[in-house]
Amino acid sequence: MAFPESFIQDLKMRNSITDVVSSYVSLKRRGRNMIGLCPFHGEKTPSFNIYTEDEHFYCFGCGAGGDVITFIMKIENLDYTDAVKFLAQRAGMDIPENSYDNSMSRLRTRVLEANREAARYYYKTLISPAGREGLDYFHSRMLSDRTIRHFGLGFADDDWSSLTNHLKSLGFSENELVSANLAVRRRSGNGVFDRFTNRVMFPIIDLRGNVIAFGGRIMTDQKPKYLNTSDTPVFKKSANLFSLNNAKNAGTRTLLLCEGYMDVIAVNQAGFANAVATLGTALTAEQATLIKRYADEVVICYDADEAGQKATARAIPILRGAGLLVRVLSIPNGKDPDEYIKSQGADGPEAFRAIIEKSGNDVDYRLQKLRADYNLQTSDGRVGYLEAASRLVAGISSAIEQDVYASKLCREFGLDKSAFMAQVEKHGKKLSREQYKKQQRKIQTDLSGRGDRLDPDRAKKPRSSSAEEALLAHLLSHPDSADYIKSRVQPEQFQNTLMRRYYSYFLQRTEQGLDPMTNVSADFTDDERNKIYKIISKYSGVASTKRALDEYINVIHEESERPDRGDISKMTPEQLNERLERIRKAKK
Ligand code: GTP
Ligand code: MN
Repeated sequence: MAFPESFIQDLKMRNSITDVVSSYVSLKRRGRNMIGLCPFHGEKTPSFNIYTEDEHFYCFGCGAGGDVITFIMKIENLDYTDAVKFLAQRAGMDIPENSYDNSMSRLRTRVLEANREAARYYYKTLISPAGREGLDYFHSRMLSDRTIRHFGLGFADDDWSSLTNHLKSLGFSENELVSANLAVRRRSGNGVFDRFTNRVMFPIIDLRGNVIAFGGRIMTDQKPKYLNTSDTPVFKKSANLFSLNNAKNAGTRTLLLCEGYMDVIAVNQAGFANAVATLGTALTAEQATLIKRYADEVVICYDADEAGQKATARAIPILRGAGLLVRVLSIPNGKDPDEYIKSQGADGPEAFRAIIEKSGNDVDYRLQKLRADYNLQTSDGRVGYLEAASRLVAGISSAIEQDVYASKLCREFGLDKSAFMAQVEKHGKKLSREQYKKQQRKIQTDLSGRGDRLDPDRAKKPRSSSAEEALLAHLLSHPDSADYIKSRVQPEQFQNTLMRRYYSYFLQRTEQGLDPMTNVSADFTDDERNKIYKIISKYSGVASTKRALDEYINVIHEESERPDRGDISKMTPEQLNERLERIRKAKK
């Protein structure tokens, strides 16, 4: 184990979860607890709860839960060790010597070091004679040497072992290079070769200045045009954005969301440091939440082509869902930002600023797209458009915004506003009915445990599972009752495999005189930990009397003594026959 438990306990004591979370989420008091909008998924009504009594959080919307360390791991995108260091620093505590030397953390550190050396090597190659082709390519795309240096762009030559040899000479092992996805193991199993060859390279840098990954572009028309680092111990494609490190410090709460590396760089060179891009995939909710931490408004600057417009339509609800204001840039003549800026020559920066300022918000954009589907010269076309527009307006959550668009449309088409609003209301009711049904269905599925891969027993054995969960919740909120509980229930009597595993773990900890929860964030996976906090949260505030406890124990006893319990695969043929006979009789 990495840190002494007393240290972790002290760390948690000095970093109250309410204090820590408050600097990321605005919280309101609700009874004994605090509530706010979940920073881990987009939501409009708060379901993110802070339980001040036992210092944990749980979101009923997305199921994320944990203690203050988990919170920092998730929000700062750190592993356990780094989250502990982060909190220690926050509270001005010294880290116990040599205690954080666990192997996962060591590998992460090595991968980051290898990435940094690789970026340095690619840059050096680019500005050396061997990088001529790459430098010419960047120059042909109108990048200045200053821009190239600023982004640390580089070149991977066409020798399949140059980077690998260089990094090995610096002491990196093959395993470390493969983990960093800088090298790939040969199919024969003997040795490794460079992942990137004959490409210009774009380092991806996180908010702490670490090189976490690369994108590489081929300089010809060959495919694939771009190659990105796969997910590694330090990189998750869906949770990072290119150039967010620059955009964060651009001094504005408006970000420009571009489609790719070259657009971001061209836009930067034109004087807009607030541009970011996804890394070769569609925008995710995780990325939108990340953006929301540094911005209030996003201008989508995707290509004017069909793919770009489709991606825009997909990105709008994701950004809105994260609570961002959204505008959509319309680039003249079907260009992407990079091409547009270049096409304007020396006026590029000014021209780009002008179209950003002109960009309408997402509702204007969607209305305009809709318009293209109807022939407004005919009555039928106008009716069709207004009908579709009323549905669109119904989907806007702010009443003021609804009113603004309703007025605008009615003015334009000489329509009576009350008639239009009646239609909006009708659609609105239908939408909220559908949303309500969807939400109910989700809650039902969650409760039944159907489709729960981590806890498949929950759906099959609801009665015993419920009692076992309740018993666990009681044990965790009253560790002093551990002796009594242990004397009455053995782990083997648990019917739910996952609950049995939790029970054994917590019993063992209390037996050793340890606080049951101190190490949950270190000892369990994300999903397992979320589930533990879900159980605690479910029973928080439910009176847990000795009588209730005995009731749970009784149910556990009953369920464990039922003769038809147990694993079919372990039954003798006689037992199996007897069981089938019983089922047949029951059916009659
Ligand atoms: P340039 O052609 O260099 O100007 O790139 P672009 O930025 O105009 O690229 P494009 O519109 O073709 O693609 C936008 C983004 O999609 C790129 O920056 C990549 O992140 C991604 N992309 C494009 N092609 C590929 C590909 O072949 N593989 C992967 N993984 N991503 C790609
Ligand atoms: Mn382009």
